[in-house]
Amino acid sequence: MRATLIDGKTVAAQIREEVRLEVERISRSDQKPALAVILVGDDPASQVYVRNKARACEKAGIHSITQTFPAEISEQQLLNEIQKFNDSPEWHGILVQLPLPAHINAERVIEAIRPEKDVDCFHPFNVGRLMLGMPVFLPATPAGIVELLHRYQIETSGKHVVILGRSNIVGKPLANLLMQKDPRANAIVTVVHSAAGDVTSYTREADILIAAIGKAEFVRKEMVKEGAVVIDVGINRVEADTPRGYRLVGDVAFDEVAEVADYITPVPGGVGPMTIAMLLKNTLKAYEIQS
Ligand code: GUN
Repeated sequence: MRATLIDGKTVAAQIREEVRLEVERISRSDQKPALAVILVGDDPASQVYVRNKARACEKAGIHSITQTFPAEISEQQLLNEIQKFNDSPEWHGILVQLPLPAHINAERVIEAIRPEKDVDCFHPFNVGRLMLGMPVFLPATPAGIVELLHRYQIETSGKHVVILGRSNIVGKPLANLLMQKDPRANAIVTVVHSAAGDVTSYTREADILIAAIGKAEFVRKEMVKEGAVVIDVGINRVEADTPRGYRLVGDVAFDEVAEVADYITPVPGGVGPMTIAMLLKNTLKAYEIQS
């Protein structure tokens, strides 16, 4: 393998320890940061993500609860549950795990969360602040990627970053973050999506290629410029002869792309752990601004 592995698991552990120490320092006997997590339905992947978030909170000294509702919950009932957390000073962060069932309007749900408690940075108010370069919270996965690049001393200023995918959770906020006039960003950003005809003509131009489309091993060796940095945001389950019946792969064909790239993130153990670490940072921030 030619590429240097970007070890998100180790970097995330460092950040989680930094958060733990800060939580210890600022917590009072009668109050500490607290995160309310809401999960609707029984999507197995969402259950894993939510469990991992709760565990990470516990290890960092952050109080958390997970409220699980059946997929049939009405939108109004869900909005009422959110309102309870909005109104309670005991809860500093509120996170509604996505995706939500089709009968629930996710935009209305996200807009119902008080912006000061929106630790995902999904609320239009916080997205607007991010775009204007005046953020309170940073969106977890995009911020985790910027943090990884920074800790591996990978220059972004003036570099061409090509992002595959335009989701509201990754592609759009990441493009916004990386184009900001900030030493950790300042990149030339291209967002490529499903309307692109010849995807390779874009990806081969990337100094930093970030794949966030949710298609198993979509990015092949021929699509990557020699010496590029490749960041894989995908977590896809593919059928495999394992005890669980599946294995996790990213949006990048890791083995072959690692032969042409200079840096690459693995799946699992790359971007995923960083998302959780940044969520903890945001929960700490929410506590600070509300205390
Ligand atoms: N679904 C996939 N990623 C995320 C995330 O970062 N936050 C929430 N709330 N839901 C998600």
